[in-house]
Amino acid sequence: MRGKITVVGSYNTGFLVYVDRLPVEGETLPGYGFRIEHGGKGSNQAIQAARLGCDTAIIARVGSDMFGDRAVGKWAAENVGGGYVVRDAEKPTGAGLVIVGPQGRNIIVVDLGANMRLSKNDVEKAFPRLSNSDVVLAQLEIPLETALHALRGSEAVSILNPAPAPMINPSQLEGVKIITPNEVEILTMAGYKPSQSSEIVRVAERYARYVEHVIVTLGERGALVVGGGRRIHVKTPQIRAVDSTGAGDAFNGALAAFLARGYDLLDAVEMACCAGAFLAARVKRGELVEALARAGELEKFIAEQSHTLGHVGERTPSR
Ligand code: RIB
Repeated sequence: MRGKITVVGSYNTGFLVYVDRLPVEGETLPGYGFRIEHGGKGSNQAIQAARLGCDTAIIARVGSDMFGDRAVGKWAAENVGGGYVVRDAEKPTGAGLVIVGPQGRNIIVVDLGANMRLSKNDVEKAFPRLSNSDVVLAQLEIPLETALHALRGSEAVSILNPAPAPMINPSQLEGVKIITPNEVEILTMAGYKPSQSSEIVRVAERYARYVEHVIVTLGERGALVVGGGRRIHVKTPQIRAVDSTGAGDAFNGALAAFLARGYDLLDAVEMACCAGAFLAARVKRGELVEALARAGELEKFIAEQSHTLGHVGERTPSR
């Protein structure tokens, strides 16, 4: 089964330059290694799902500029359907300016541009595709109301990756099946500070009263799955991470792919953790999209790592 996925999300062009130290305000520094990269959480996740063999399409807005042309060309090359991509006449394609210093330290400024004009109306034009999808996946580099409109507008397994996270009242998520925040995002959604990590399980359980499952990604510690009366810790391969930027995108794209192909939730989470670990181990100098796993590569990696995988869990008190 190929599985049909519709991603509702962002595209950003990444403009990267490397420096020996980060500049201070008002300073001009010589940089090197300038590169232009494809990025944006929606686009990254769609490319990951397509590389794992799913029939994938993206609903997105890019500018009527050369960077919008690049985005459309990349999706075509990656077998991501672009029939619901809108070219905005006023706002530019989303852009991220990234200054990379030593030890991976960086300064990043993002102008989401056309992404923030992706509207409910744009989504409605794609309802035939949405209603025919196995999984609908959205993130929040687009307006929250647009993401929710798409996720609620279909019988599909709906996944919200709340990144970047705003504060969200749990009741706003009614009708969404799965949310996939990381540790900081789940706290931010509930109005806590990133330092209040002792609250994560309690907050996840609160959100799990409104969605079927809350999956909190924990980086090198794997993922916590809360919902359906269970709290399960899923392990991830213990690899040497080079750069974890985009590991969440690999996780979400892969989760969508395995669910669309009919895998059980915990198996899908385990394989999605492997996709995130694969990316974090392989990415070089910010070339995130190139490092996203292809199906054969991920299968080999999972086979090599199978001894480190597994999950443990407990039942939680009923609601
Ligand atoms: O998750 C990583 C992505 O977030 C990057 O590609 C960047 O474009 C930002 O949108």
